[in-house]
Amino acid sequence: MDNARSSASPMLCFNPATCQPRQIYKLMTGIIVPRPVALVSTMDKQGVANLAPFSFFCGVGSVPPTVLFCPSLRPGATAGSVEPKDTLRNVEETGEFVINIVSEAIAAAANASSAEVPPQVDEFVLSGLTPIASKAVRPPRVAESPAQMECKLLQVIYTGHAPGSGVIVLGEVLRFHLREDLVEDFRVDPAGLDAVGRMAGNTWVRTRDRIELIRPT
Ligand SMILES: Cc1cc2nc3c(=O)[nH]c(=O)nc-3n(C[C@H](O)[C@H](O)[C@H](O)COP(=O)(O)O)c2cc1C
Repeated sequence: MDNARSSASPMLCFNPATCQPRQIYKLMTGIIVPRPVALVSTMDKQGVANLAPFSFFCGVGSVPPTVLFCPSLRPGATAGSVEPKDTLRNVEETGEFVINIVSEAIAAAANASSAEVPPQVDEFVLSGLTPIASKAVRPPRVAESPAQMECKLLQVIYTGHAPGSGVIVLGEVLRFHLREDLVEDFRVDPAGLDAVGRMAGNTWVRTRDRIELIRPT
């Protein structure tokens, strides 16, 4: 049976085909937790910088060093139509982006940069974060971020064409930048990085409560 409790199991079962997109979004952001936050900087063709956080974000592989994040399609002006988020439009136009890791110190500023503002607004100004030049791409890095990855676009994959459909942006990392005190022999100090993640809604999470598990040989 769809979207119902089965008498034989304590689990609720939902068939996404019979749910509203908003309900599915709430389920996904509620159970896929915690999600790291990519604070993505891009630049449009005119050179206006853009900054926005994306928590559908992960690493893909290290040879070549590959990452992905997923800007969803926005509802357009007419019913059923869509428009790309500024980040997606810039990435498709220029083929470049920077992923800035979000520490607790800049979590509020990263959140401020998620405001739905017109493309001509530079969210660096809005959030108070400082742009610094990248080495291999045009979009600037966020100076206050403890770690940044300069990326060139590999592929854009549309999983659908409706409002809320996810678009996978795959990129190759051309440069890694890490604050000097955080790295020793390529090992990154998690306490110093102090990365935060996103749960559902307005809830974020710190990475200070960690456990160690020895992998079986
Ligand atoms: C912590 C956080 C995580 C977010 N993750 C995503 C995401 O994974 N995908 C998405 O489409 N929007 C996400 N958003 C919303 C975008 O940041 C928001 O739509 C932003 O205005 C997009 O900016 P842009 O139009 O400049 O690209 C997130 C917002 C916050 C605060």
